[in-house]
Amino acid sequence: GRVMFVGPVTGEVASGDHGEGRMEEPEAIAAAILAALEGRLVAATARDLEGVRLLVSAGPTVEDLDPVRFLGNRSTGKMGFAIAERAARRGASVVLVTGPVALPTPAGVRRVDVRSALSMQDALLRELGAGFAEQDALVMAAAVGDYRFAQTFAEKVKRSGASLSLELVPNPDVLAGVGAARRGARPVLVGFAVETADDAGIVELARKKLLDKRVDLVVGNHAAESFGHETNRAALVTATDAAWTSTADKRALADGILDRVRALLDPALRPADPA
Ligand code: CTP
Repeated sequence: GRVMFVGPVTGEVASGDHGEGRMEEPEAIAAAILAALEGRLVAATARDLEGVRLLVSAGPTVEDLDPVRFLGNRSTGKMGFAIAERAARRGASVVLVTGPVALPTPAGVRRVDVRSALSMQDALLRELGAGFAEQDALVMAAAVGDYRFAQTFAEKVKRSGASLSLELVPNPDVLAGVGAARRGARPVLVGFAVETADDAGIVELARKKLLDKRVDLVVGNHAAESFGHETNRAALVTATDAAWTSTADKRALADGILDRVRALLDPALRPADPA
């Protein structure tokens, strides 16, 4: 228990090949060391999510075209990983389904790695179980790609000099699918909305998403303040209210979101002040 491995990870290796054997990024190694040290400190955090089963999705999804090319997005996974980390620290039993990201697994979290939107959907449905009975809440922080290639190629597509059109077909909306199939109030469903509108517009779009996807909470934020940033600011929109958090570290924001999830799980509890 005194030795911990960080990586190797899959990617380009020194010989020029691609595969498992690449050194993990220095930032991720540093984060893993800090997390391991932190895990040894007595957690001062209240374990107020003890007994809660939480499923979190994070990161981008990636659609392969051929063995060397893909379609992805700019999500780094930081928000979803922060939610998983804080929830585990607060006592929840957490499963994290993530697209390809360069982040270490938070302490105490069970991680499932996926790549495409369809593989993320498969993994989430498996973890939700029959009748969605295996989880108390689903937090969809992943930036699921809306499209995949109609056709993929087992061999590298060669340059021809002529123009090339690639057809995209829609991916299923995973969250809306779960929202439509859910019977009753469980699992509590949380969606994200990254928008380019102003504050009022974001609340309006988040409210629309809340109704369209039949979820309980939508976390709305600005694209310019979200992707790749350490901090964020969000509108927490439920059927009954909408409140903007101040700009906060993603972990503090994660705690604010988890306070709302806790209140939705137990309506007797009032939500704490937003982060
Ligand atoms: N989502 C999903 N499956 C998809 C797309 C999105 O489950 N195929 C989830 C995301 O995880 C997120 C929320 O839905 O919680 C985002 O909704 P979406 O409508 O895709 O957001 P945008 O892409 O920002 O919306 P739009 O392009 O419609 O403005």
